[in-house]
Amino acid sequence: MIEAKIKQTLRDVADFPKPGIIFKDITPVLHDPILCAEITQALALQLADIKIDVVAGIESRGFLFGLALAQELKVPFVPIRKAGKLPYKTIQQSYDLEYGSATLEVHEDAFKPGQNVLIHDDLLATGGTVVAASKLVNLLQANVAAYSFLISLDFLNGRDRLTSFSPNTFSLAK
Ligand code: PRP
Ligand code: MG
Repeated sequence: MIEAKIKQTLRDVADFPKPGIIFKDITPVLHDPILCAEITQALALQLADIKIDVVAGIESRGFLFGLALAQELKVPFVPIRKAGKLPYKTIQQSYDLEYGSATLEVHEDAFKPGQNVLIHDDLLATGGTVVAASKLVNLLQANVAAYSFLISLDFLNGRDRLTSFSPNTFSLAK
């Protein structure tokens, strides 16, 4: 099954980027085109009952399957980027990471009011990143329809922080 394949293929790297952090390296997954296609289809299947108007992927690793998922669902893709990267007018939201802090931005015309947005990222850890992304979605009067991740580190309880935005959180592996 897909969870086992992802877990077998992922590489755990100890003490990156800081001592004590075990980094989930998805580059071996990206090296396997058949697995990548299976992942994209599995992500879409989990969302089959959810109305989605647009997929938002979070820089940088959320871009990798975010665009593929949007193509699979036949909906637009929106990049949510780290500060200073987007060229047009943006709105910003700062957040704390497992290691450090950062700011996310999105173009101010990225979502229309009332649109149902699927937020995609590779990994759910503390949830700080997708909470900031969710606030950007709501600032533009759009709704968070669901979250989708390749991996969720459920021992960090990130899921609990997402329920006030959407009851729907999916991941392919834990
Ligand atoms: C990692 C990962 C998620 C986020 C998860 O990204 O790709 O986006 O951290 O952490 P959280 O749930 O505790 O917020 P990172 O900020 O390392 O950047 P990258 O995707 O550009 O590598
Ligand atoms: Mg990331």
